Amino acid sequence: MSTSLPTLLTFPNGRELTVPTGLFIDNKFVPSIEGATIQSINPVTEEVLAVVSSATAKDIDIAVASSRHAFRTVWGRNIPGVERGKLLNRLADLMERDTDPLGDLEALDNGKSAEVARAVDLPEAIACLRYYAGWSDKIFGQTIEVDDKGHKSASTRIEPLGVCAQIIPWNYTIMMLAWKIGPALAAGCTVILKPSELTPLPALKLAELVVEAGFPPGVFNCVPSFGDVGGAALTSHLDVDKVAFTGSTATGRKIMQAAALSNLKKVTLELGGKSPHIIFASANLKEGPRSCESCHWGVFLNQGQDCVAGTRLYVQAKVYDAFIEELLHSAKEWTAGYGDPFAEGALGGPLVSEVQRDKVAAYVDSARAEGASIVYGGERWQGKGWYYLPTIIGDVTPTMKVVKEEIFGPVLVVTKFETEEEVIALANDSTYGLGAGFHSNDANQCQRVLARLEAGTVWVNQYGQLYPQVPFGGYKQSGMGRELGTYALENYTQVKSVLWDYSGGSAQ
Ligand code: NAI
Ligand code: MG
Repeated sequence: MSTSLPTLLTFPNGRELTVPTGLFIDNKFVPSIEGATIQSINPVTEEVLAVVSSATAKDIDIAVASSRHAFRTVWGRNIPGVERGKLLNRLADLMERDTDPLGDLEALDNGKSAEVARAVDLPEAIACLRYYAGWSDKIFGQTIEVDDKGHKSASTRIEPLGVCAQIIPWNYTIMMLAWKIGPALAAGCTVILKPSELTPLPALKLAELVVEAGFPPGVFNCVPSFGDVGGAALTSHLDVDKVAFTGSTATGRKIMQAAALSNLKKVTLELGGKSPHIIFASANLKEGPRSCESCHWGVFLNQGQDCVAGTRLYVQAKVYDAFIEELLHSAKEWTAGYGDPFAEGALGGPLVSEVQRDKVAAYVDSARAEGASIVYGGERWQGKGWYYLPTIIGDVTPTMKVVKEEIFGPVLVVTKFETEEEVIALANDSTYGLGAGFHSNDANQCQRVLARLEAGTVWVNQYGQLYPQVPFGGYKQSGMGRELGTYALENYTQVKSVLWDYSGGSAQ
């Protein structure tokens, strides 16, 4: 039987926290009508952390009706932007107050380092909400001259899209939630958020803060559910105006299809990647360790479960041996940092699920079978928990599965190259185009390379840094549309053109 009663969780660091377990609709936690549930599991102990309600199509109908009602009555054009901004800022303040429990909960549900979750995931999510709070009252149209006699005018109004379904993955629940709800709520849309079935808890805990911040009921609904149940019901719903999705390319395709076959709801997609990271000989090798660090943060952070992970490393022949030596040194530090996500200085923990761990192991096995060499790692953790240790694979060819496909684990594939021309061709030889990074101290080379890399974001002499002000999204099959920055507001607004003839009303 589905329940909506809160569960008390005890953390490895002694923290105790009650977490709601119901679907969050109309500012209340309620059980699923059909009694469906999700077991959220702790990937360290492989034990059930909490049983939460899981939305089925009937619950989704209720959530959509609540969201539509809120849009028509208390949100959308019924509340000034400045008030929406105040509410978003209040939510950000509450998240700041609760950074430690929210960060710990993210780590407990997902398996990531609690220290990193508190120091990175939460502050970045908070910054994102504040950024969009500021935009809430700065969304406006244009006045357009159309008639030189002055009898007619035209203008545009920028209006909210309406009811938006937002489907997020499990790798950064709170950060992805902020990226999604920030621009949507700022623009005046109402939101139905579907967190991943693997990590429903941080989003439900955050829903409590939505009430405390004072958002009216129905503005933010949160419906944990399985993708092919609640997710599919949202994407094919006839009264949902838009779906925003982050996750795998395969699911992205299904979502576009469901949108097309239902009501042509607007779609934005942030999908996977297989991002190249290039070390040119012209990079300042005195900064070798810094480049290594950036490689490792780029691929081992969050156990490699990161859409922009720089998983294809290309090192120019002249500096290859020296660079690999540094790389191995720093990989050892990462391995030592993997373990209990709540340990002091923890860099990583287990992968999110057994399926994910087995998928990563199968990729590494495929590399072995295809003749690549395991330069470092290549092992599961011996013992409980879905761990896979940091791994570096060499002697790869461009057609190997580990070079072509997104692994979503702590696995780096390394290729030696000779010329700039060669590495640009290798880097662009992908169906993905989310991120790309390179290190070079030659300004002309930097200009040439950054212009030619086929990716939505290019990092020069760093890797992976994101800011709420800077748009983020994919070239090729890495997605459609941009999140963050002013671009994200366009995902949640539509333009109404107003043409006005006032010659008949002029004074005689
Ligand atoms: P997924 O893309 O299936 O799941 C992401 C979200 O989509 C979850 O909330 C899920 O419930 C929902 N979903 C699944 N099927 C759906 C459907 N038919 N309609 C609507 N929503 C649906 O990813 P999954 O299965 O968790 O992981 C598989 C692989 O996807 C990973 O190994 C990784 O390669 C990739 N992935 C990429 C992410 C990224 O940020 N680029 C995030 C998560 C996974
Ligand atoms: Mg979990």
